[in-house]
Amino acid sequence: MSNLHIVKHPLVENKVSMLRNKETGSKEFREIVEEIAMLLCYEATRNTPVTEVEIESPLGKFNVNMVEKKFGVVPILRAGLGMLEGMLKLIPTAKVGHIGLYRDPKTLEPVEYYCKLPVDAEDREIFLIDPMLATGGTSIAAIQFLKEKGVKNIKLLCLITCPEGVEHVQKEHPDVEIYTAAHDEKLNDHGYIIPGLGDAGDRLFGTK
Ligand code: URA
Repeated sequence: MSNLHIVKHPLVENKVSMLRNKETGSKEFREIVEEIAMLLCYEATRNTPVTEVEIESPLGKFNVNMVEKKFGVVPILRAGLGMLEGMLKLIPTAKVGHIGLYRDPKTLEPVEYYCKLPVDAEDREIFLIDPMLATGGTSIAAIQFLKEKGVKNIKLLCLITCPEGVEHVQKEHPDVEIYTAAHDEKLNDHGYIIPGLGDAGDRLFGTK
């Protein structure tokens, strides 16, 4: 599981525990998801190359390091939207795409119903955000769409993963690094992560 990065930090663990609690309401849930997304983004950008540039500070000219790399953030609709603001707080110059997929009731295959990406997506490092990596089917399809549009550099950021989903993504897209705030035990028969946090979209938006 070399390209699975589990962000181990007491604050991250505490925030995930708050999400797991069914008493946590939508407002607080959204705020915590945003905070965790910021911390995941921080880790996922750790090895970003920097370029030395000269700047003039109030005390004179100095060489400093700046990030020149261009990023894109692509939430998978709808639960991925909950992580978007946190990502943009850390990388406000990122362009944003959206991917919407549904599962065909007959074939059970993910089908794209919406896909809008930055025009220069292929020149950007793309952070695909999908809170719950359950079976992995949706993420795999979204990564495939991104690759078909020419995107070469993709990282998948999740709140919670499970062994089944990670193995599936790694099998289909071994080049994609996965960052997660928690790696849970298993999937249940209904495709929910155990212990997980329930339906991330419903908890974010207060739906059922
Ligand atoms: N999607 C969710 O929102 N939760 C799960 O546990 C699995 C998939």
